[in-house]
Amino acid sequence: MKLRKLKSDTELTGKRVLIRIDANVPIKNGKVVDGPHGRIARAAVDIDWLSQRGAKVIILSHLGRPDGKRVPAYSLKPVAKRLGGLLKTRVTLSRDLFGPKVVKRISAMKNGDVLLLENLRFDPREETNAPSFAQALASLGDLYVNHGFAVSHREHASVDAIASDLPSFAGPLLANEISILSKLDSHLKQPFVLVMGGLKFETKLPVIERYLPNVDRVLMGGALATTFLVANGLSVGKSVYDVKSVEAIRSLLEHAKEKILLPTDVVVSGSFRKDAKVRVVDVHDVREAEYIVDIGPSTIARYEKEIHEAKTIVWNGPIGYCEIEKFARGTHAIAKAIAQRTGAATTIVGGGDTVPVLEAAHLADKFTLLSTGGGALLEYLAGKKLPGLEVLEL
Ligand code: 3PG
Repeated sequence: MKLRKLKSDTELTGKRVLIRIDANVPIKNGKVVDGPHGRIARAAVDIDWLSQRGAKVIILSHLGRPDGKRVPAYSLKPVAKRLGGLLKTRVTLSRDLFGPKVVKRISAMKNGDVLLLENLRFDPREETNAPSFAQALASLGDLYVNHGFAVSHREHASVDAIASDLPSFAGPLLANEISILSKLDSHLKQPFVLVMGGLKFETKLPVIERYLPNVDRVLMGGALATTFLVANGLSVGKSVYDVKSVEAIRSLLEHAKEKILLPTDVVVSGSFRKDAKVRVVDVHDVREAEYIVDIGPSTIARYEKEIHEAKTIVWNGPIGYCEIEKFARGTHAIAKAIAQRTGAATTIVGGGDTVPVLEAAHLADKFTLLSTGGGALLEYLAGKKLPGLEVLEL
């Protein structure tokens, strides 16, 4: 897939550039929770790129699911603050998404200035992909740039319909993500290893199914692996697993068993407390009162061996309960093993929940691609058409 890119020599001085980012990050006590490799920091790089070229940058984003109403908890105020800090400039937040007030503000902008429009999902027309909303937004700019891979699977006005109203381009980060990801189809190097963690199987199954003919190994971790253990008839104590996917996993295992590796040993604990006692046990020895919280050392060693031999590695989803340091050993080890292959192999990591662990381990910039796409990445990998990309296709 080839996207229309903004070229480095495109004249941007004085142009009003609308950039769609995905600032959908957790907010705690009025502050953005997003590290140096998170979505907002990555968006800041492209915003800065535009601003340095003399554009008047108008940022579009959503936050949460306010259902077409103005909900103060979903205001982008904390995002404006975080962006301002990263860009070392004032990022003004416009309460209005269209109309005379915002038009006046934009006409007062100087080259390089940055303005953020309030949460687009405060207007119900954003999620219905309404042409009237897309046109209202488009009338504020001269060109449109999509930076938000993470929202490109949504057929929303600021992602899809808007591209019919303005010259539209993929921003540098989005273009780079797609150029790396598209090589999985055009230049796949084998051995190819998929590492799958997290919980929701329904979002991972289409990816596994799609790559099954070409994948050499699928390494399972996290609650997903626990669900596979359940499908194999093992007892998993009090562990969290994806109850409704057990049957689907049984049928997958019928035709793909030899490619799928499951944990042979696991770390178990009686609680999710930071100071919880843990044991390493064979997968057959999990007690009634225990939770599986991570993969064990033998499994790590087996997975590392597969990773060390791979030429392409795609990893999505945490391997254990990595929010708690004690349960993050598997995630760390797998991250390290994949990072060590970068260069010799193409290494693609779906960020999301694992980004803070990767940042803490200083590994976040050690992959061919640390993708900003969450659900969008999984849909892309599953071979689905993403509306936000289709409208930018060459
Ligand atoms: C995400 O965080 O995955 C994107 O921002 C999309 O959010 P949504 O699932 O609310 O559309």
